Amino acid sequence: MYEEVLSDVDESVLADLCARLTLEEKVLLLTGRDSWSTHPLPSIGLRSMVLSDGPAGVRGATWDERSPSVNFPSPSALAASWDRTVVRAVGEQLGREAARKGVDVVLAPTINIQRSPYGGRHFEAFSEDPLVTSELAAAYVAGIQSQAVGATAKHYVANDSETDRFTVDVQVDERSLREVYLRAFEGPVIDGGAWLVMSAYNSVNGARATENELLRSPLEDDWGFDGVVVSDWTAVRSLQSAQFPQDLVMPGPSGPWGDALVRAVRAGEIDERIVDRKVIRMLRLAGRVGAIDGVAASPITEVSTDARATARVAATAGSVLLRNEAILPLAAPASIALVGEGMRHPRTQGGGSATVIPAEVVTPLGAVTARFPDSTTTWSLGAVVGTGLSDLPLDSFHAPDGTPGMQVVYLNQHGEILASETRRASEVVSFEAESLALRSAVIELRLAYRPEDQHPTEFPFGVAGLCDFEVFVDGALAHQGRLRTGPGDDPAAAVLHPPSTSFLLPRAGEEVAITVRLRPVEGGIPDALSFRVGLPPRDDDPDALIAQAVSAAAAAEIAVVMVSTSPEVESEGFDRTTLALPGRQDDLVHAVAAANPHTIVIVNAGSPVLMPWVDDVAAVLAMWFPGQEVGAALADMLSGDAEPGGRLAVTWPADEQSVPVSNVTPDDGRLAYTEGIHVGYRAWLRTDATPAFEFGFGLGYGQWALTDANAPERASAGSDVDLSVTLANTGSRMTKAVVQVYVERVETSSIDRPERWLAAFKATGIPAAESRHLRITVPARAFATWTADGWVTEPGEYRLVIGTSVAKELQSIPIRLG
Ligand code: BGC
Repeated sequence: MYEEVLSDVDESVLADLCARLTLEEKVLLLTGRDSWSTHPLPSIGLRSMVLSDGPAGVRGATWDERSPSVNFPSPSALAASWDRTVVRAVGEQLGREAARKGVDVVLAPTINIQRSPYGGRHFEAFSEDPLVTSELAAAYVAGIQSQAVGATAKHYVANDSETDRFTVDVQVDERSLREVYLRAFEGPVIDGGAWLVMSAYNSVNGARATENELLRSPLEDDWGFDGVVVSDWTAVRSLQSAQFPQDLVMPGPSGPWGDALVRAVRAGEIDERIVDRKVIRMLRLAGRVGAIDGVAASPITEVSTDARATARVAATAGSVLLRNEAILPLAAPASIALVGEGMRHPRTQGGGSATVIPAEVVTPLGAVTARFPDSTTTWSLGAVVGTGLSDLPLDSFHAPDGTPGMQVVYLNQHGEILASETRRASEVVSFEAESLALRSAVIELRLAYRPEDQHPTEFPFGVAGLCDFEVFVDGALAHQGRLRTGPGDDPAAAVLHPPSTSFLLPRAGEEVAITVRLRPVEGGIPDALSFRVGLPPRDDDPDALIAQAVSAAAAAEIAVVMVSTSPEVESEGFDRTTLALPGRQDDLVHAVAAANPHTIVIVNAGSPVLMPWVDDVAAVLAMWFPGQEVGAALADMLSGDAEPGGRLAVTWPADEQSVPVSNVTPDDGRLAYTEGIHVGYRAWLRTDATPAFEFGFGLGYGQWALTDANAPERASAGSDVDLSVTLANTGSRMTKAVVQVYVERVETSSIDRPERWLAAFKATGIPAAESRHLRITVPARAFATWTADGWVTEPGEYRLVIGTSVAKELQSIPIRLG
């Protein structure tokens, strides 16, 4: 489907280039030069290639607010669009962002399955369903690569939760691997033609993912992958891994290959042809991205739209309207009470390595107020969401010379100043071994700060980072401490979630001069560090916050409450311990809904949350982590300028007890996928429990009807089945239909199967009063199961079920496969 993005770098050129390299040069190319780039080899005109994280934007080689990135919706939001065109457009923009930032390879998309809602990194993954993941990830990859930038399908494979992610051994049977976890990679690798695959940290059935036969089969043997297998950062831990189709060790420059690999080849322990094979793949990648002199890069597709507009459209396309008691879109309300921390500080993305720094976030408060100029709007906090330090508001601090932000002074062990810079942020993050931050013995953060807190003699403040520190206020030592990670912490925690502390500092006036002197200490992953000054969570009386929101809501015609998860709940390196919203947000929604029957709740979370108040409110709109255009997208949907186009690509449970797959904690180092192929809605279909909202569900603002479903009565096993339907827009506005085709086995069978499973889907817009005839192909694979003999289709009676969710059937067609 997306073949046009494959470049045809001349293979004989690659072989010639490889032949011109010494063994040392070849081996050099196979380990990174540093955290984010590969070694150049000038002797063959090869420049260094830069790799940078996605998937919600492309950060670039530095983590720095001076080099901002467009922040797109996270993949759980993109997947909810069920729309290949929207996802492809986001991919194209990511490719352009990468090109703008000098990035050759985007370390995305994440193809892992949302096996359990407790997975901490689910916002980075697409869906609980392998087909949705596979198809949308293929479009995402094709979009990126249409800009001559490599995409990386990660993390291969079964890296579906975070607890003990560096060491866990996932036990999963062959059939489930093929039908669920590997199946998800087929789209991005085969159809999308991904130029890279990232091998995961975990082991699969006893062998590390970087030293696993799965790198050979199915990746290469069955799928024909001809790209580079890059390791997850530090996932390669042995020389032995070089014997496998593991091509690039990241980060560098040290690592288990290097000189050891040169010696092993010289000693005849490792065949040089194995090294050459990796080198050719690296050169093929370099050719595709245009990193070799004289080798033309893959062609670039012109893109006409702009990144922010694409991000905004994608945010509405993936927003799922879960409930609407005839209140949305809003009809010119006289007054709106906006409630929630997210209204001012929405979570546009999840935490961890995927983080990007947008130049601007369109806040819901600002955008909704502007979109309803004739309505009176108020805002109240309602509840405190986060438990960690938050950024100092940019308008509350400045460097000693008056520039907004803080002065960062880098010193050596003798106290001599190495350099100084002004940052428009209250944090410094670095993954570059050569950065000033990593070369300094002491770092001083100097700022003048105006505390919001009105207390006359003291104010709250906090410091984060792996360090010893001292805080001086107006020149006098006011606080000191040491911050260390805990014994069980993820090794990346020192950077991604550095230890923090908060305390009260003295004040004499409106503004205080603060110097924080930090001494970094060893720990965590190499060549990475992060420091931050910030504010601890507000300690207002929670009941008083709720009461204020309630009185604002009671006085308004409409109340819109935004509830969110926090960076302490959804991020990298740990899993969720509860699906409940953090803090007192459930109490807040209950109270606001009791005070105002026109209460609309906006859910700002990357994965499912419990909503015990769902039946008491007038509407619920799940916006996920919608990217930097969050406010504009919300205003578009509240006003009716845009329709929420999303359908759930993950089941939303009503309570924790009924979640069928909930275990993400390894036992004795092993995590057994005992549920087999019954993941997500397939698992729910086997229980008596009913989720709050089922897979595939989502309302829009329009109505449509489906008629004339047609498919052949018989088909030969192993062939695709073409289906046609007519969709009629029966409402008065343009609307989006997502046609979902599920398969059921009718005859009894010896094969353990889900009750029904998704086989095909298509999203389409239908103008008011018009009809559309759709052809949908159900691929042969949808009927096949993995057996000891490979993919096999059992003949017999099946049913094609066409519906609007896994539980809502519109029509069904019997079909006999023979
Ligand atoms: C993450 C990857 C990421 C890499 C580089 C790892 O910890 O698991 O997803 O691409 O870091 O930041």
